[in-house]
Amino acid sequence: MNIRGEPERGPVYFELNTGAKIPSVGLGTWKAEPGLVGDAVIAAVKAGYRHIDCARVYGNEKEVGSALKHLICTEVVKRSELWITSKLWCSDHAPEDVAKALTKTLQDLQLDYIDLYLIHWPIRTKPGSNRFEPGSMLPLCLSETWNAMEGLFASGQARAIGVSNFSTKKLQDLLKFAKVAPAVNQVECHPVWQQPGLHNFCKSTGIHLSAYSPLGSPGSWIKGEILKEPVLLEIAEKLNKSPAQVALRWGIQSGHSILPKSTNEGRIKENLDIFDWSIPLDLYAKFAEIQQARLLRGEFAVNETDSPYRSVEELWDGEI
Ligand code: A2P
Repeated sequence: MNIRGEPERGPVYFELNTGAKIPSVGLGTWKAEPGLVGDAVIAAVKAGYRHIDCARVYGNEKEVGSALKHLICTEVVKRSELWITSKLWCSDHAPEDVAKALTKTLQDLQLDYIDLYLIHWPIRTKPGSNRFEPGSMLPLCLSETWNAMEGLFASGQARAIGVSNFSTKKLQDLLKFAKVAPAVNQVECHPVWQQPGLHNFCKSTGIHLSAYSPLGSPGSWIKGEILKEPVLLEIAEKLNKSPAQVALRWGIQSGHSILPKSTNEGRIKENLDIFDWSIPLDLYAKFAEIQQARLLRGEFAVNETDSPYRSVEELWDGEI
């Protein structure tokens, strides 16, 4: 409730350090199967979503692009009303590859600019490699990669730039050499992995925290069970909302944009139905009782041969 006793609305967007407004709910497209993702994007935009979270490595940007083109050509939505994010894959960190990677993504998405372009991981692999096995990894060159990202920002091809899967320490290091501060850090974030330290650091430096796997990616190999978490179930029952809606509402109430993935029209709509109610403060406080666990630990990026990380603790700088 707000001070007038009305149900709290929004926030429908968050303002970034560029001045741009990122819609607080975006459709996630990670693990959205080819053949389904295009229809999901169309259903989402028709339901009111204005933010689609993409990445080259998800392997479905072409299908997302066809759906976007259809929506724009049939005047369901204008390009200027949409917020489209994509991400630079680990094999394209060499500064000379950064612009080429965005060009390919823009071609696939059938767009002439991207609203937000992120370095997907603080991990670098050999050009052409989609995998992380020993023998395919290279030392990081983040200051050069970031400098190339700044070039995309200056050219207007990327209207905002940022990072993903960065720890507090990696953000601190980046801020030491960045001429353009990252607008966003997109990380795993949900009631079972709330990341208060990273949240506070981002807040104090004006970096917006965007939450992937806001439902804990149930049913995937990550094996998140957060929709069965007892505190969440109790709050959902009290508020007469689904556990997914409570997890998502917790995210936007905490100041994060959230990127729930669904290819099911009913759940796409359910996940957007979180604006005309709120979690009261006494119930919001109960989220502090939830035992914390990082679900996507990043073991795949760890090896003793050529990875810069010998352990998951090193990958996350102890935030694990
Ligand atoms: P589906 O695509 O069949 O709806 P996350 O966004 O955390 O990665 O979670 C995505 C997973 O959660 C997908 O398996 C998706 O399945 C499922 N999902 C999405 N929305 C809901 C919801 N409202 N309730 C339950 N499961 C959901």
